[in-house]
Amino acid sequence: MLWWQIALICLPIVYFLIIIILSFQNPEKHVKWNDTNLGNLKFPKDFLWGVATASHQIEGNNKNNWTQFEKSKGLEESGLACDHWNRWKKDFDLIERLGVGTYRFSLEWSRIQPEIDFWDEKVILQYSNMVDNLISRGIEPMVTLHHFSHPIWFQEKGGFEVGKNVSDWVDFCEKMFNLLGDRVKWWCTINEPAVFTTMGYVLGEFPPGIRSFKTTRSVAKNMMLAHALCYRKLKKLPYGDKAKIGFVKNINIFDPYRRWNLLHWIQAKILDEMFNKCWLRGLKTGKFRPPSSLFSKKIDGLKGSSDFIGVNYYTHLLATPFMPTKVEIDPLIRPWEDRTDFRYPMYAEGLRRSFEMVKNLNLPIYVTENGVADDDDDMRPEHIRRHLWITSQAIKDGYDIRGFYHWSLMDNFEWAEGYTQRFGLYHVNYNTQERTLKESGRLYSEIINLNRMPQIVILAGGLGTRLGKLAKDIPKSLVEVNGLPIISHILKWAYGQGCRRALILTGHNGEKFKGFKFSGMDLKFHRESEPLGTGGALFNALELLDDDFILLWGDDYHPIQYGELVNQHFNSGEKLTMTVTESHDSMNLKHYGGRVIEYNKNETSEQFNGYEAGTSVVSKSVVVKYGKLGKWSWEEIIYSKLSGKINVYLDNTKFWDVGTPERILKLEQFFKGRGP
Ligand code: BGC
Repeated sequence: MLWWQIALICLPIVYFLIIIILSFQNPEKHVKWNDTNLGNLKFPKDFLWGVATASHQIEGNNKNNWTQFEKSKGLEESGLACDHWNRWKKDFDLIERLGVGTYRFSLEWSRIQPEIDFWDEKVILQYSNMVDNLISRGIEPMVTLHHFSHPIWFQEKGGFEVGKNVSDWVDFCEKMFNLLGDRVKWWCTINEPAVFTTMGYVLGEFPPGIRSFKTTRSVAKNMMLAHALCYRKLKKLPYGDKAKIGFVKNINIFDPYRRWNLLHWIQAKILDEMFNKCWLRGLKTGKFRPPSSLFSKKIDGLKGSSDFIGVNYYTHLLATPFMPTKVEIDPLIRPWEDRTDFRYPMYAEGLRRSFEMVKNLNLPIYVTENGVADDDDDMRPEHIRRHLWITSQAIKDGYDIRGFYHWSLMDNFEWAEGYTQRFGLYHVNYNTQERTLKESGRLYSEIINLNRMPQIVILAGGLGTRLGKLAKDIPKSLVEVNGLPIISHILKWAYGQGCRRALILTGHNGEKFKGFKFSGMDLKFHRESEPLGTGGALFNALELLDDDFILLWGDDYHPIQYGELVNQHFNSGEKLTMTVTESHDSMNLKHYGGRVIEYNKNETSEQFNGYEAGTSVVSKSVVVKYGKLGKWSWEEIIYSKLSGKINVYLDNTKFWDVGTPERILKLEQFFKGRGP
C-alpha cells in the first residue's frame, strides 16, 4: 500500500478519535427536566441568599462613560432608570420583603468623583447611609467597585487602556474601603472584565465602542492588574483582614454547534480560552495571557488575589467558525431549548459546568449573578427553579458554593439593549416608577424563606390558670380568639413568614391537641409526663430540635418580620437573639450595645430599658450546654447564664400576651375586621 493510501485510511480514524476524545472530555450535559423533581432543594443554613443590581442600571441621571456612549451611538438613553438614587429606601423595603439576607450593588464612581479633583461628600454620605440602612434590616451589603461604568474624565484619559490610569481607580477603591470597610464585609473588585473588554473593544457594543484586538489586550491586562492592586491595597487597610474581596467572572459555556465538526470544536475552544480560561488561569497562577495574545506575563500580586470567586452565569453559546459578531443576530440553540428574550437559550446545566470550571481555584464560590430576560415572566419561575436545583445538587456533590444572588432585584437599564430586556423580580413601570412583585419574585422569596426559615418551636404547655373558665378544660394556647385557637393565629403568622415546620411542646396536657392540624405546616407534637417548666420542656424535646430554631410562646401573638430577625441572629454570631421592645408599660431587662446585660422576670429596676417581647432565635447548643433534666425555667436560667451574650433584636411591634380574659378581649378587638 502506498503512503497516501495509508494516510487516506488513517486520517478519518484519527479525526474521529480526536472528536471522541474531545466529546468525552467536554460532554454537553442536558438534564431531563421533565423527570426531575425541582422541589428537591437543600441549602446550608448559612447560605447567602441575595439579589443584585448595578448603579448605572438603576440609579438614574448618571453622567459617565455610558451616558456619553448612549448619546454618541444614538442608543436608548438610561435617563432616569429606576430613579433608585431617590427611591432607595423604598427599594430596600422591596429587598427586605423578599426575605433575602444580602444585596449586591455597585458604587457609581462617576457620582462619587465626578471630576478628577472633586469628591462629592453628599454622594459619599448617601452610600454610607444606604449601607447602614441595609445592615439595620439585617441585610448584608456586597459592594462592587466597578460595574461597567466610570467617570467621563477617566474615559477621556484613556480609561483602562492606559496602564498608569489604573491607580486612579485603585485610589477610588481605597477611599471607598476606608469609608465603608468597617461595615461592609463583601467586596467585588471588577465585574466581568471579560465582558467589559469583549463588548467594549472586540464587538464595540459597549463604550468606547472600539473593535481592536490590540487595545483589547491592553485593557484586559490593565484590568487584571487593577484587580490585583486593589485586592492588595484593601487587604492592608483597617478591616482589610476581615473583608472578603473577590473577582467576579462571567462564565459563558462554549459548545461546538456540530459535535462531529472539528472546526466547531476549534472555535469553541478558542472562545473558551479567550473568554474564560485565560482569566481563570491568570488568577490561579499569577501569569496572565490576555485574550488573543500569544504570551503570558506575570502580574505582581495577582496570584491568590481573591477570597472568593464570584460566578455570573447566564447561558451557553454554540460555536461555529462563522458566528455572528453582532448581538442582534439570533445565536444558535438546540431544538429542545427555550430561547430567552435575550435570544440566547436557557441552559441551567451550564451553571454546573461553570462550577466545574472555577473549582480548581480552590475558593469559596458565590453565584454573584444569575437571571433571565423575560418580559412576561412566563419563563423566569422555571429558570429560578432549575438554576437553584443545579446549585443545590452541586453543593450536595461537594462544591463549596456559599451564596446565590438573583439578577436582578427589579427591571432596569440593560446596557446596549436599553429598556427592552426585563430581568427583574419586580416589574418596573418606567412611566410611573411603580414596582410590582412578579410571580417569579414570589417564588424566589418562597424558596428563600423555606430554606432560610428555621423550625419554629412553640411552648404551648401553659395551663392558663388566670384565664379561669376560659381555659378550664384546654391549655391556654387552644383558647379561641376571633374564631380560631390562639395557636392557629400564631401558626398563621409564622406560615406567612415562610415557616413550614413547627414543633409544639404541649406540656403534660398534650391529649387536648389530638387532631389539631394546620394546613401547609408540618407539625410535630411533644408531650411531657409531668410539668417541666419552659426550660425542662425544651430539654425534654432535645432530639427534636433543629440546630437553630425560632422560639415562640404559645400564648403570645407577636407579628414581627422573622426574616429580619433571623438575618440579624446569624450575623450577630451569638447563640441567642431576643426580641426586645422599648414600648411596653413595664420593663424587665437592661440592654446595652446590642446585648441584653440584665434580666429580671419579676422585679423591675430604674436601669431597665427594654422588655422581652416573646419571639427569639436559639441555637440548640444553648439547650445542650445549659439544659438539665427536671423542671426549670428557660427565662430565669438561660437569660442570666448568657447575660452579655444575648443579641438584641429591637422591635417595637405590639405583642399580645393572652394570659388574662381582658387581654383576650383586646386581641379579639385587634383581629376584628381582619378576617378569621
Ligand atoms: C451584567 C449585568 C447585566 C446582566 C444581564 C451581566 O453580565 O453584569 O449588568 O445586566 O449580565 O445581561
